[in-house]
Amino acid sequence: MDLDLTGKVVCITGGSRGIGFATAEDFAKEGARVVICARQSQSLKDAAEKILASTGQKIDTVQTDVTRVDEIDRLIAHLRTAYGKLDVLVNNAGTGTYKPFLDVTDEELVAGMELNFFAQFRVTQRAVPLMREAGGAIINVSGRSGIRGNFPPGSSCTGPAKAAEIRFSIDLAAELAEYGIRVNCVVPGIVETERLKLWENNALDKERDEGATDKLRREIERTSMRGRQRWGQPKEISSLILYLASPCSSYINGTAMTIDGGSFTKSYMTELHLQRDALARQP
Ligand SMILES: NC(=O)c1ccc[n+]([C@@H]2O[C@H](COP(=O)([O-])OP(=O)(O)OC[C@H]3O[C@@H](n4cnc5c(N)ncnc54)[C@H](OP(=O)(O)O)[C@@H]3O)[C@@H](O)[C@H]2O)c1
Repeated sequence: MDLDLTGKVVCITGGSRGIGFATAEDFAKEGARVVICARQSQSLKDAAEKILASTGQKIDTVQTDVTRVDEIDRLIAHLRTAYGKLDVLVNNAGTGTYKPFLDVTDEELVAGMELNFFAQFRVTQRAVPLMREAGGAIINVSGRSGIRGNFPPGSSCTGPAKAAEIRFSIDLAAELAEYGIRVNCVVPGIVETERLKLWENNALDKERDEGATDKLRREIERTSMRGRQRWGQPKEISSLILYLASPCSSYINGTAMTIDGGSFTKSYMTELHLQRDALARQP
């Protein structure tokens, strides 16, 4: 399949790690002109170097905190000056807070909405003027907590913020159709990134011990679900994002696509907690 992304100007928020990094690398492989943003300049630099090494393509980096309107304005000004247009926007930066409802602080509540839904809204509102002449594609990255109750447990803060991103994408698709801009939403299950490994450690109530947790996860994958249940890989999500950005998906608009390997996660969580309880019983 020819994704026809060569030369397209693509901006990915949160492109220095995890799903955003995999997406940036894949667009670079396709010959797109890639711009990534994130808060930490060193991780942006590292990401650009890795992508240069793996694809031979130089990408552009703009240090941006997408929860700050002035910094979003600076990112958009850079896109306008350096490229004069934008073909693809991937609103990927986001995060999650997973804790009991009564423990969620007001700061966490506000920060969750700011980094997830508000950032997607604000970046898109400012980026559309760069896209509406030639048309293009917007892909918003949500998460399964947005469509599934009590997953992961303690999602009362993050779930509604990720749900807002889905609803937002569907409305935008209708409003932006007249400019030839398609808007779709990607809804990942659990994806193996550094941040999620931390979350898993927390779920196990253990001190961070990557080796032990990795081993435990592999064991659960091997024995309990006969290989059906596993964490997704960032590349499995980025493949869908590239497809939705490409003219190959020209008849797909206003959808939210779940990408989670099937609905086995409840069993995974059950296993995780069983293992945690078994660990707790050990002398
Ligand atoms: N991993 C999963 O299992 C999973 C599941 C469902 C949904 N998702 C969604 O997928 C998206 C990516 O998740 P991920 O797990 O790949 O994330 P990640 O590995 O934690 O990476 C997050 C990226 O966003 C950047 N970022 C964080 N805060 C930012 C801010 N205020 N402004 C600009 N950039 C910021 C980070 O760089 P800096 O820290 O340098 O800013 C980094 O590049 C998120 O929307 C997440 O909710 C992930």
